[in-house]
Amino acid sequence: MGIIPAVLHKILEQRLQQAVALVLPGADTRSVLIRPCPDPKFGDYQTNALMALAKERKMNPRKLATDVLAKLDVADLCEKVEIAGAGFLNFKIKTTTVAGILRDAIAGKHLFYQKTEKPRTVIIDFSSPNVAKPMHVGHIRSTILGDSLGRVLRLLGHRVITDNHIGDWGTQFGMLIFGWKIERFFENDPAKLPDPIAELERVYKMVNKSCEGDSASLALLRQKFSYEPGLNLPTITSEEVLSRARAELVKLQAGDATNRDIWNRLQAISKQQFDRVYSRLGIQFDYVLGESFYNPWLADVVKDLKERGIATESEGAMIVLSDGKLPPQQDPFLIQKDGKWIPNPTLVQKSDGASNYATTDLATLQFRWNGGKWGGQPDEIIYVTDARQQLHFRQVFATFKRWHPEVTAKLAHVWFGSILGEDGKPLKTRSGETVKLEALLDEAEEIAFKVVTEKNKDLPEKDRREIARVVGIGAIKYADLSQNRQSDYVFSWEKMLSFQGNTAPYLQYSYTRVRSIFRKGNVDNASNLAESLNLAEPEEITLAKRLLNFGLVLESVGEDYRPNYLCSYLFELSGDFARFYESCPVLKAEGTQRATRLALCDLTARVIQQGLAVLGIETTEQM
Ligand code: ARG
Repeated sequence: MGIIPAVLHKILEQRLQQAVALVLPGADTRSVLIRPCPDPKFGDYQTNALMALAKERKMNPRKLATDVLAKLDVADLCEKVEIAGAGFLNFKIKTTTVAGILRDAIAGKHLFYQKTEKPRTVIIDFSSPNVAKPMHVGHIRSTILGDSLGRVLRLLGHRVITDNHIGDWGTQFGMLIFGWKIERFFENDPAKLPDPIAELERVYKMVNKSCEGDSASLALLRQKFSYEPGLNLPTITSEEVLSRARAELVKLQAGDATNRDIWNRLQAISKQQFDRVYSRLGIQFDYVLGESFYNPWLADVVKDLKERGIATESEGAMIVLSDGKLPPQQDPFLIQKDGKWIPNPTLVQKSDGASNYATTDLATLQFRWNGGKWGGQPDEIIYVTDARQQLHFRQVFATFKRWHPEVTAKLAHVWFGSILGEDGKPLKTRSGETVKLEALLDEAEEIAFKVVTEKNKDLPEKDRREIARVVGIGAIKYADLSQNRQSDYVFSWEKMLSFQGNTAPYLQYSYTRVRSIFRKGNVDNASNLAESLNLAEPEEITLAKRLLNFGLVLESVGEDYRPNYLCSYLFELSGDFARFYESCPVLKAEGTQRATRLALCDLTARVIQQGLAVLGIETTEQM
């Protein structure tokens, strides 16, 4: 046999593309792809690409498949290739090919994936919570998803830059500064409280609700400290609160020293909270460039957009309207109303001259496109936020492309649905508050500790706590990542911490099981099992073929931004392993059979561990 590939589907793809090029000279073969066969009855891999090529050319698809098959040379790797259905090609791999790839893997040459030959520079904008507010469950999906996408793309050899675009600028700071002053926080530093964020949240709510005319909040606010002459708190109205808050914001933006100082303190308090959460989740960012970082450029962005005729004035504000170049269905600046398409503009400057979220995102995009702080233009920028921001990003991307037509980077909004409570409504605490991320992590570890204790009464508490941490945090992450990100899902402790089904504990447990076989068998070095690897039993072959697909799955996670593919894969792999282990004794076997089975155990454990690692999930040696 010739070279043994780490990633079989790539080699098959190349050969298939060559054959197609011989039959259809000049055809674009990039879309000729190989995927695992949905039903192993028909084969191991499959392509459906020939049907599309035939359709484009008005050819008979089966005839095209026959012609391509005649030119296809995969006899060294495949037992057979068959035409099926309307023009599918199904590939059945030789068991010796599979064994060869496993032999290389066990010898440490690869783990069924390959680093890309074309590394891309990918910026991932994720997590991005808001300063002086508690991180809530809504931020958890962005944090977990974005982190996992970064890990997968890095593993595949791409240059990944993670950037936490925190909300550290904007109208909430006017309210917070006003609140800070009337609470005399310079004297009673909230940073010294056990939960400073909760305190800031209380103050923010009091001010914000007073602005909205809430009489209870206004009554509270009226009892506070009138920090300057002319501010008569006991009789203040909601309109006056609003204009005070606005005035504090204007002062902050103009560089007023006191307001700047308060702003810095708010940042510091938030940073502590963010760092605590990120360290518990094992998440790191290359950059934390919040909205405030882009403030110096905002006026120029608007000016430039105006000069180029992209933004126009409307009632004192600056807006971006459709340029009419896209079909209405795809035009983010149009919206359908009563059967007619009407303008749906993006606001880039309010009538009072203030910039907004869109302006900041345009400045951010320009900065990133110009190489950011890291140097080097991105090939791809990924934004991970909830579904409600879809229109925002469609408009920002479209505006940016009009502003910078030279842009070649792929701009992707990776959006996700909501986390729901058991009642099917957005997740809330029993008292109706939004659930806070830190409380959620505490609870996860607490429940996991009970589960772990039930299983291992004899382990010292310290060990049980550590296992509970890995299991609890892993369960929360996995519950999120294993879902189709675009659907809402119901948050259930019972389900996510179950040792059965598609859960983190189940996979973590599969891993420890394989590891314990190794311990029992006293095998410490798996790499010398390579020589005698020989696949015979159907369960061995099924497991081995599943291992082969690890790289293909990682690639599709990176392409579609969907870690749930990897979760399903790991779950199926664990199932294959369980069936194998049931029918193929490992330690009781002898000679080649024993070595083969130990090798399968070892590779399964390594793939599960690496797979969980790129989901951001740890493993332990015992559970
Ligand atoms: N801070 C925003 C929020 O909490 C998310 C920011 C996402 N990133 C961006 N570049 N707009 O909703």
